[in-house]
Amino acid sequence: MPAIVLVGAQWGDEGKGKATDAMGADVDYVVKFNGGNNAGHTVVVGDERYALHLLPSGILTPGCTPVIGNGAVIDPAVLFEEIDGLVGRGVDCSRLLVSANAHIVAPYNRTMDRVTERFLGKRRIGTTGRGIGPTYADKMNRVGLRIQDLLDENILRQKVEGALDVKNHLLVKVYNRRAIGVDEVVAELLEWVERLRPHIADTGLVLNRALDEGRIVLFEGGQATLLDVDHGTYPFVTSSNATAGGACTGSGVPPNRIDRVIAVVKAYTTRVGEGPFPTELHDADGEWLRTTGGEYGVTTGRPRRCGWYDVPVARYAVRVNGVTDLVMTKLDVLTGREKVPVCVAYDVDGARHREMPMTQTEFHHARPVYEYLDGWSEDITRVRAFEDLPKNAQRYVLALEELSGCRISAVGVGPDRAATVVRHSLLPPT
Ligand code: GDP
Ligand code: IMO
Ligand code: MG
Repeated sequence: MPAIVLVGAQWGDEGKGKATDAMGADVDYVVKFNGGNNAGHTVVVGDERYALHLLPSGILTPGCTPVIGNGAVIDPAVLFEEIDGLVGRGVDCSRLLVSANAHIVAPYNRTMDRVTERFLGKRRIGTTGRGIGPTYADKMNRVGLRIQDLLDENILRQKVEGALDVKNHLLVKVYNRRAIGVDEVVAELLEWVERLRPHIADTGLVLNRALDEGRIVLFEGGQATLLDVDHGTYPFVTSSNATAGGACTGSGVPPNRIDRVIAVVKAYTTRVGEGPFPTELHDADGEWLRTTGGEYGVTTGRPRRCGWYDVPVARYAVRVNGVTDLVMTKLDVLTGREKVPVCVAYDVDGARHREMPMTQTEFHHARPVYEYLDGWSEDITRVRAFEDLPKNAQRYVLALEELSGCRISAVGVGPDRAATVVRHSLLPPT
């Protein structure tokens, strides 16, 4: 013990990477338990800015062991491109452990992602195009490739044949694309075997043993609660479990070993891709949030959709994840506004909802009901103690704490690793 889970509370890009990195020095293992290189985490350390996709954010902390768990999906070419980029900047990646059971994003999964999105037309999800959905679909259909399959060429070939069997019919007859050859896929994947081999491990065993020895393990969620395939705004979600439960299934560490659940929540809301978003702003305020907050995707460069803080979403995230602590990020972005609107409930066809509505139709009809909190104008980026924040910034945090139903233990006031106001330690007593 202890095991700490860290997830996103909204639709992603809350600043999970920074939060994980900031805890890095106290943590022995950081585990990515879901998703793949659809994630994009920016970590700023002094003058250096790192964009991480597949590697857990703990990679930047010397001494911390990064782990990619069984619940994640891995595109080997992307993994080694990322590793090479970091090694070139002096980051040691040699400790990385990769689960033998993690699934592989095969080249045809990327193709399928793009062609299916095109076919969906205006019903598209707005995916990152990285092959994530088709890879998880293969996993569920039991035609997926796992990291361990790379260690046995015969098995790999059989599995690729199995996976391409139906897909090639689809590609050729439905999507008008060329068939993909088994040999080319096998050859491409085998290129990575020797580099991968030293990193492949029974990560479930490693992590449980580490917990037995009293090590601190942090489970870093990719994506976020409202992008979770079960608990998010389906079908406008990613294809994995990004909520706290995913940390267990995606790592092999059981629920009764988890001590703490941290959810990272932005002081306002953003979303990339399609799907409902009640507090979305289509006006100058939305543009102001995007520009001031630098709200452009780390993975695809797409402008993020922006809106005010949504209390029903935060309350939902607290409930679904069993959140013990919220980390609120980007409070500094709201500096300079006379009033800051906060959505406290929805109006759904005339009915007031304080919780997330049950059906997708209701959520699509949800109109935000706002309360207007007083703003502040002082620069807060150098503040490190809660009492030193302007009174109205303190009131904003305290009001959101009360409304969201969970204590806010840390507040981000800038992108840098150090730019955080800590109210309660995020590490459980050992
Ligand atoms: P993640 O996917 O949840 O790790 O988040 P991203 O890295 O995609 O997006 C968060 C962005 O906000 C990054 O550019 C971070 O550098 C930045 N960021 C994180 N925390 C803060 C903060 O407290 N203030 C400001 N201004 N930027 C922050
Ligand atoms: P991080 O970890 C924000 C969104 C995509 C799309 C939907 C499905 O940086 O918070 P996918 O490629 O996963 O099948 O796309 O999910 N999405 C994210 N949005 N942050 C992310 O990751 C995301 N990962 C996926 O934009 O709407
Ligand atoms: Mg991101």
